[in-house]
Formats: sequence, C-alpha cells, structure tokens
Amino acid sequence: MSEARPNVYVTRMIPAGGIELLRESCDVEVNPEDRPVTREQLLAGVKGRDGVLCLLTDRIDAGVFDAAAGAKGFANYAVGYDNIDVTEATKRGIPVSNTPGVLTDATAEMAWALLFSAARRVVESDRFMRTGQWQGWGPLQYIGGDVTGATLGVLGAGRIGTAMALKSRGFGMKVLYYDAIENRTLEDTLGARKVELETLLAESDYVTVHLSLTTETLHLLGAPEFTAMKKSAYLINTARGPIVDEAALVDALRNGEIAGAGLDVYEHEPRMVAGLAELPNAVVTPHTASATKSSRTNMALKAARNLLAMLKAEHAPDCVNPEVYGN
Ligand code: GLV
Ligand code: GLV
Repeated sequence: MSEARPNVYVTRMIPAGGIELLRESCDVEVNPEDRPVTREQLLAGVKGRDGVLCLLTDRIDAGVFDAAAGAKGFANYAVGYDNIDVTEATKRGIPVSNTPGVLTDATAEMAWALLFSAARRVVESDRFMRTGQWQGWGPLQYIGGDVTGATLGVLGAGRIGTAMALKSRGFGMKVLYYDAIENRTLEDTLGARKVELETLLAESDYVTVHLSLTTETLHLLGAPEFTAMKKSAYLINTARGPIVDEAALVDALRNGEIAGAGLDVYEHEPRMVAGLAELPNAVVTPHTASATKSSRTNMALKAARNLLAMLKAEHAPDCVNPEVYGN
C-alpha cells in the first residue's frame, strides 16, 4: 500500500530542476501565470497543501498560515526572508527555510557591476552614445570616481558582504565594515577594520549594503546618513530596498550630497520612488542580483530539497527557525 503523495504549491514558475525534483515524490501545482500571485490567489493556492514553495514577492503572514492549515513547511526561494512572518510561523510550529550560499557570488558580483557602472557612468554614457550625441573625444567627458585604492565600506559582513569585500583585492582597496560580529576573514585577508556606522559613512568612497531587512535595519540609511557620507561617495544596494529611505536618497542624489548610486532593490517594489528614474547618477536594475543561470538553478534545487525535508518531518537543511524542531 503506497502512502499518499504530498501535495505542494509553488507560487510561481522557478527553474525547472526544482519543480522536477519535487515532482519525483509530490503532486505539484505551480501558479500558471508568470507574475506574482495576488493575495486571493495565494490564499486559495495554499489551501489544503502539505507544503508551499514561495517567493520574496509573496507576503506570508498569519492569514496565509490560517489558509494553509496543516502545511508542514514553507520553503522560500530567496536568501532573504523578510517577506515571511517567521515569528508567527514559529509560534505555530511551522518550519521556514531560505536559500543561503548559492547566490553569494552572483549577488556580490552584481554589487561590483553596479559599483563600476555608477562610478564610471556606464549607463549614462551608453545612453549618450545611442542617442547620437557624441561629437568626439573630449577631456572633460564623463569623468567619474576612482576605484583602485579607494575605501570600500561594507554594511553587513555576512556571506555576501564578505564575498563582495574579498573581491576588492584586485583593486587594492581599504575596507571598513559595520557588523555586530567581528569578521576574522576580512580582517586577516584584507586588513579590514570593524567600525561604527558613523565612521564607515564618513570615510568610505563606496558604501555597499549587504544587511538583511529587520526592524533594526529599516531606513538605516536616510537623510542624516547621506549628509554624513562624502559628496564624492557612491551607495550600492543589492540587499533590500527598505533599508534605504528611497525618497531621501533621491534628494541626496539630486542635491549632490553623494555622487551616485547603484541599486538593485527598492523600497516599494516594483515601483521606484518619484524622481529616481530621472536621475542620471543612479544606475538601476530590477532585483536581478541572483539572476545567473547556476545561482537561480541552485536556488530552485535548494528550496525544493528544503521543502522535501519538511514534508518528511526531517530537519530542513536551511531552516531559519530551528526552534520548531525543539532542539
Ligand atoms: C533575493 O533578493 C534573495 O533574497 O534571494
Ligand atoms: C546572505 O546570504 C548573507 O549572509 O549575506
């Protein structure tokens, strides 16, 4: 007699490997539309499921847990999980997982892509070329910021912040970091210094954000912080939009409080705050820092493996609330 196959819901199509892995042992329903589910679709979709594979665009809260009564776990297809009310999940004994490790280099590389694009005005000059405005070489055209030998300020020295900082070796940068925990790797490899936020803002030529979004980091960077930065400095954000007060950032970029910004994440995705799109000194990408073939494939496999473990009531490898296992 065979046991019933678990029934799982995937809120949007992800790279096929993850779905195939789930299908080996589960009945899988994937939201057929390639866009985020609406609240109504989400509530209806999770109903009666044994497990859910969700995305950072899905708000998973008490209402969803109510609708998904009986679900054995939620596997998030992202390393960040601020979209999930983990406290509520823990209260109900529901495990939640994320996808750490497999997007570390991809995200760190995107931070560098944005850093260079902003510093060397790549997007702005690309537009200039394509619109036929170039009349020939000029000594004062598109002068940008120096990278080699500059000071890199890393906000959040976890996996991604560390990888981003380590990649600065080729550019001989001085590295400062702000984190609750001392990072021996950065200190021993780069001679990096752990500093207060004020020091990092005052001394860095590039400030790169790699924190998770929590009540403590919400709007960590706003008008006073932009004022504290050098006028020649750049802000890079590949973490979460709401860590930055985006309206204040627009003012700072417009008024020359800082030189430029490279952003992959926004406070109110998919919108940008008014004025940002018009600023030539901002480079903006659509939350694609983890979008490399291997990274996205491995995120799908990782999320699927976590969900499969939860369905078997096994310890999910990337569980973010291991308290639910009572150990
Ligand atoms: C993407 O933003 C992620 O958290 O994986
Ligand atoms: C996320 O993976 C981080 O620790 O930076």
